Amino acid sequence: MKTLVVYYSRKGYVEKIADAQIKAEREVGNEVDFLSLETLNTTVGYNGLRNCLAKVATGGEMELFPYETDVASYDKVIICTPVWGGKIASPMKTFLTREKHNINCAEYVIVHFLDGNMSAVADSMDKILRLKREKYTSVQCVWGKVKKEEDFQ
Ligand SMILES: Cc1cc2nc3c(=O)[nH]c(=O)nc-3n(C[C@H](O)[C@H](O)[C@H](O)COP(=O)(O)O)c2cc1C
Repeated sequence: MKTLVVYYSRKGYVEKIADAQIKAEREVGNEVDFLSLETLNTTVGYNGLRNCLAKVATGGEMELFPYETDVASYDKVIICTPVWGGKIASPMKTFLTREKHNINCAEYVIVHFLDGNMSAVADSMDKILRLKREKYTSVQCVWGKVKKEEDFQ
């Protein structure tokens, strides 16, 4: 089984959680690669936060730095994303929209600050990819510390 772990992380919280996914895939004997999405416009610091909030307000996508990963060559894609404004974070939305024809089997790891199971976010990802996820994990992460982690179908 060849797995791709793709993540977008503004402050490194999602990256840490994605790293654990990579390790877990290796432990079960799967071949695993990762792709860290970077945005063309900054998302760090005060200006970056302003850029993020502008996308939350408009529901727009964020342009991604070019990557060379052949997403279609993987059997399974694990998508690790933060929640922005109650929805999938803009950079990940750009990725899913671009790669929707190249992903047939997906799991989601949805990282958020507020309490909640984020089922609406998982459903919206299914809708973009036009598939039914294998499963999703909701991770409530408060200032970098995992407070609650639950698996759902
Ligand atoms: C622009 C923006 C909007 C956010 N909106 C939400 C939200 O609606 N609900 C929530 O639970 N967390 C929200 N968060 C918090 C992030 O989902 C959470 O801090 C996550 O761990 C960020 O991970 P990262 O810094 O690795 O990208 C938001 C964060 C940002 C930057």
